[in-house]
Amino acid sequence: STSSYDNILVTAPKPGVGLITLNRPRALNALSTALFRELNDALRQLDDDKTTGAIVLTGSEKAFAAGADIKEMKDLTFSEAFNTNFITSWSSTIPGVRTPLIAAVNGHALGGGCELALMADILYCSSTATFGQPEIKLGIIPGAGGSQRLTRAIGKSRAMELILTGKNFSGVEAGQWGVAARVFDTAEACVQGAIDTASKIASMSGVAVKAAKEVVNKSQDLPLRDGLEYERKVFHSLFGSKDQKIGMTAFAEKKKPEWSHE
Ligand code: HXC
Repeated sequence: STSSYDNILVTAPKPGVGLITLNRPRALNALSTALFRELNDALRQLDDDKTTGAIVLTGSEKAFAAGADIKEMKDLTFSEAFNTNFITSWSSTIPGVRTPLIAAVNGHALGGGCELALMADILYCSSTATFGQPEIKLGIIPGAGGSQRLTRAIGKSRAMELILTGKNFSGVEAGQWGVAARVFDTAEACVQGAIDTASKIASMSGVAVKAAKEVVNKSQDLPLRDGLEYERKVFHSLFGSKDQKIGMTAFAEKKKPEWSHE
């Protein structure tokens, strides 16, 4: 249950919206195994909950997350990392979540924190947010998608420069480079903006929303021809949903659709 978490808070700020707040302030929300277990558990529960139409993930004003827990990793050996499939256990849950996930990033989003933000479907941040992949300074490399998702988001040359030097980039740059869909002046506005967008998404047909998320994500994996074909198949399939009939009938009758989410 949500009340038993030590490192995160789970609330429902608006109908249909789940808000997960990373809450390990003394370590700037460093992503310990315990934190990630709780995060994954909360994400699975919200994803399974039919009344949740969108999820917002945020941290504090000071830190979204300052990375994987360095103190926990310090003595890790190759065989432990390999045998426990380190990182995979925590970074494989989010891509399987079918409910839209919006990251509201304030403060530090470094290393695994930056990678976590990049796993979201939509990223909002404040102008003073600090993103980066500083792993190179610790003698390692990004391990939860930083070299892949960041490179797809901002291009090879910029990603290479950031990952090889470990230098940070700002929330303003995240907006200019297309990492963030929107950049806000304050942390509060950022979280509120994410909640408002989540609420808007939650007011749509859940079937159509899940289908839309799925096809957009396919564009990141498939060649264009296959992606277009995939989109058309899913598009055709939605004519088998109740909500397609509800949505189009409501339009024709000048009414507001009452979605069945079926
Ligand atoms: C463990 C961390 C931590 C981290 C901060 N803390 N980041 N503990 N792991 N990643 C702890 C500090 O040790 C300190 O604990 C407390 O949080 C406050 O941090 P300070 O450094 O005192 O705060 P500040 O001076 O404001 O500096 C903030 C900071 C700095 C610039 C974000 O904390 C920092 O550089 N953190 C590490 C960032 C990083 O390298 N991240 C990538 C990690 S590797 P005490 O007990 O001293 O008060 C990674 C690999 C990903 O993420 C691989 C796949 C996921």
